Amino acid sequence: MKIKDKEFEIFISEDEINFRIKQIADKINEDYAGKELLIIPVLNGAVLFASELMKKITIPCQFSFVKISTYFKTESTGNFNQLFGITEDIKDKHLLIIEDIVDTGFTMGNLITNLKEQQPASIGICTLLLKKKASNSSIKVNYTGFEIEDKFVVGYGLDYDGYGRNLSAIYVLKS
Ligand code: IMP
Ligand code: MG
Repeated sequence: MKIKDKEFEIFISEDEINFRIKQIADKINEDYAGKELLIIPVLNGAVLFASELMKKITIPCQFSFVKISTYFKTESTGNFNQLFGITEDIKDKHLLIIEDIVDTGFTMGNLITNLKEQQPASIGICTLLLKKKASNSSIKVNYTGFEIEDKFVVGYGLDYDGYGRNLSAIYVLKS
């Protein structure tokens, strides 16, 4: 499959993704039983993952989206731009951040620092994909869909230069 100037091949199928999302939702429902959650999906990438996951959350929950962009084409720019964020009071709330992918952990680290200032009761992290090199960073991910090698992927919310987010499976850049 070609997106702009690059060739991609299938990496994780839609069935595998859906199966894993159900397992994660079950675990979240169990872990937060008796509590309320404020789910924070990170736009744009987490939108497909978050919408599939939220249908399977059975505990009382609310949503608030944040939008961040740090990526330029296939490389992290190292700049953190929070474009828009949470407007409601998050003090003493249990937050669960939903991401498409944690790569260097830079985005997540900055977001957590921002959120902590407002003294939530807890901050959990749920990501569809975790790049293995991120395990070296100080970010502790609570729920991971798939741990992957350090390769560039698209689909299921993830983009290459703005394209490919709508793909229902995950594709990897052909080497
Ligand atoms: P980090 O700050 O390096 O952890 O990068 C996180 C953000 O970069 C993610 O939210 C994605 O938007 C983007 N990103 C990282 N790796 C990939 C990839 O393989 N494909 C598409 N986007 C990626
Ligand atoms: Mg993202």
